[in-house]
Amino acid sequence: MRKKIVAGNWKMNKNLNEALELGATLSQALKNNAISLQAHQEVVICPPYIYLLKLKDFFRVLGEKQIQVGAQNCHFKDAGAYTGEISASMLKSLEIDTVILGHSERRTYFKEDNALLKAKLDHALANGLRVIFCCGETLAIRETKEHFNFVAQQLQESVFHLSAEQMAQVVIAYEPIWAIGTGVTAAPEQAEEIHAHIRQLLAKQYDATLADNTTILYGGSCKPTNADALFSQPNVDGGLIGGAALKADSFVGIIEHLR
Ligand code: 13P
Repeated sequence: MRKKIVAGNWKMNKNLNEALELGATLSQALKNNAISLQAHQEVVICPPYIYLLKLKDFFRVLGEKQIQVGAQNCHFKDAGAYTGEISASMLKSLEIDTVILGHSERRTYFKEDNALLKAKLDHALANGLRVIFCCGETLAIRETKEHFNFVAQQLQESVFHLSAEQMAQVVIAYEPIWAIGTGVTAAPEQAEEIHAHIRQLLAKQYDATLADNTTILYGGSCKPTNADALFSQPNVDGGLIGGAALKADSFVGIIEHLR
């Protein structure tokens, strides 16, 4: 059975005290709501780099085993003169297992293109990380009905060179840019339609089993009130959550709808 995941992308938010407070309330809220994840379900939070180790240690002290800690990005080289950057091998040395790559904010503000993301993906996988790889179109692209081709090209140019074995370490997150941080969510049918398209692309490029085993998350204004409708779609395997991951009650309200 493929993994069902709710991952929180904290982006550039929270100071250290706030980050630890959110970690603590989140852990407590899981207990209060008697949330006990099944073997195929996962919860991951991706705070800014500088809190990764603190949060991991904090959860260990709390005895919190249900919340994994992942990173939001990494560089494409192991080491070298890249001021301000963090490599996948550094993350691995912190026992971080998951990294988000290709987020639209990285693509837009930091000019990360499909070729660069291919290099980052290779580097992350070579270092044993699992990658949540983001794709998704702008509103202008959707309005011209080119979104199916656009997402296919993003995957073609960054992901589909991977072997089937490597692909097993990749989670795809479909995040339409017009839905990120806007309060406008893709309708469940819109999400399902493009998730099914992505799964078909995987089946064509690899095979039906790999396609069936690949987790495809939805991201973009996902909240407790729409999570159930989204996660009940057959090809939506959970969510990559931004704003609603910054408060324990809303994040847990989404986790409750994991299937
Ligand atoms: P919002 O949930 O704030 O729309 O952000 C989604 C996102 O970008 C997660 O990576």
